[in-house]
Amino acid sequence: MEMGDEEKINAAKGALEEVKDGMCVGLGSGSTVREFIRLLAEKVKKEKLNICCVTTSFDSRMLAIERGLWVTEPDAISEVDLAVDGADKVTKTALLKGGGGALTREKIIDYNAKRFIVIVDESKVQEVLDGKVALEVLPFATPMVLKHLSKYNPRIRMADRKLGPVVSDNGSFIIDMNMKVENPEKLEQEFNSIPGIIENGIFTKFDSIIVGRKDKWEKV
Ligand code: A5P
Repeated sequence: MEMGDEEKINAAKGALEEVKDGMCVGLGSGSTVREFIRLLAEKVKKEKLNICCVTTSFDSRMLAIERGLWVTEPDAISEVDLAVDGADKVTKTALLKGGGGALTREKIIDYNAKRFIVIVDESKVQEVLDGKVALEVLPFATPMVLKHLSKYNPRIRMADRKLGPVVSDNGSFIIDMNMKVENPEKLEQEFNSIPGIIENGIFTKFDSIIVGRKDKWEKV
């Protein structure tokens, strides 16, 4: 088990209590959500639940299918009852997401769910959001978007085990900018008003945050 895994598992356990038979559950992305997917699959098998899942990345989709969960596509369902997703940083009012490049599908599923619960380990909690703001951009628009955002020192996210940029699950590029986000709602809207940007990793709508600690979880 790696450092911080217990915290992630405890956060996932907190969200698991919200899952009820017959729900359609939105599965976010990232290492904390991977713990949630594992636990959800066990619960579904053990309690013989009827749960359908929609996923926000190939990563979550592959794990959910491997674990035997019923996975469908967002366009095949009318609504998501509960979305459970991780975050890179959280405050009481906003999140930074997109560390894994899955922000667009995450925002679509999370914002359209009847309830959206965030699961994080305690290292993610901040007073003021400060970290990497990720943007998903159409590849051909990238130079124009970079110019537009030059005051934030934007960088195209480069791949590790492939030449060139990271290509998202939607076939787009990711731009990262380090910054303190003093007014998340304003910035979330502002970035999305720039042509070429598909979505950004500032999230300001969610219902609760479950923080996993070493031996328990807490709702904040
Ligand atoms: C994926 O693009 C991100 O938004 C993840 O939700 C976020 O990075 C959290 O991932 P971890 O649980 O691995 O920290």
